Amino acid sequence: MMSAVRMRRLRGSEAMRRLVRETRLHPSQFIWPLFVRSGTGVRTPIGSMPGVSQTSVDELLRDAERAMTAGLGGILLFGIPDTKDAVGSSAWDPHGPVPEAVRAVKREFPDLLVITDVCMCEYTDHGHCGLLTPSGDVDNDATLALLAKEALAHAEAGADIVAPSDMMDHRVAYLRQALDGAGYTHLPIMSYAAKYASAFYGPFREAAESTPAFGDRRSYQMDSANGREALREVRLDVEEGADILMVKPAGAYLDIISAVKRDTRMPLAAYQVSGEYSMIRAAAERGWIDGDRAMMESLVAIARAGADMIITYFALDAAAHLARR
Ligand code: PBG
Repeated sequence: MMSAVRMRRLRGSEAMRRLVRETRLHPSQFIWPLFVRSGTGVRTPIGSMPGVSQTSVDELLRDAERAMTAGLGGILLFGIPDTKDAVGSSAWDPHGPVPEAVRAVKREFPDLLVITDVCMCEYTDHGHCGLLTPSGDVDNDATLALLAKEALAHAEAGADIVAPSDMMDHRVAYLRQALDGAGYTHLPIMSYAAKYASAFYGPFREAAESTPAFGDRRSYQMDSANGREALREVRLDVEEGADILMVKPAGAYLDIISAVKRDTRMPLAAYQVSGEYSMIRAAAERGWIDGDRAMMESLVAIARAGADMIITYFALDAAAHLARR
């Protein structure tokens, strides 16, 4: 006896498929990462990330306008400072690239949500995400104070959300206390809660000029084999006061996104990182895959897994794609 059920009935036309579609993407879910440095008229393409550039603040404003017009959820700022030192002191310079960019964007486009990445690796000459001990280990507790100074510089400039990406223990609690103490009780923290030590960050390190001078980040970022550990990490960040959680990278960690969503019910972001972006762009350039379709499929998969928002270098392209349909 054949089953009366025929799954193909609901796949016959685009109109039918659209009706039964379970996951929908909207530009307001996309957060666009941008790299800012000093100067004027600067737009330096990043070789390993076709379509992505480092820009000066004036050029960044053009991108901010594009983000506004496309209805993106927000932008995420990374700074490339003029000078680096062992403690990363340019990270809390009120006239560093990120605070300058935040002030300019909030002045020109007050409704555009501006998120700042809070980490030391772009600002230290050794490229690690915190202060080093004499033996070259990252000193967790000494790093917290530096991160707080950086987050406060971003808050004072007018950032809407601060996003610590360093993976030091207790940094969410420390930042929450520092922000509250300075009167920023209203400022949300988006925590890079489950951030893995990943080969997919390769192109970003060219973009942010933040490759570690020695060693790697495995003593603070997570081991890609671990899922239960991610739940411990995120629960800790929730207890410490994180407002939005993040899983990073996204594509190779869809199970983590799904588990975190189920386990916490928190607003959840996923970061489709540089390597995920560049792989799709590179294969599309060679004509090996349809770049547009691969872009949308990768994003819908991240949303289907449970991410409420997606940080992606495709933000503008994906929004344009959605507007065309
Ligand atoms: C800073 C940071 C990194 C990324 C975001 N914030 C690099 C790293 O941890 O090495 C990676 C983003 C990407 O690859 O797109 N700690």
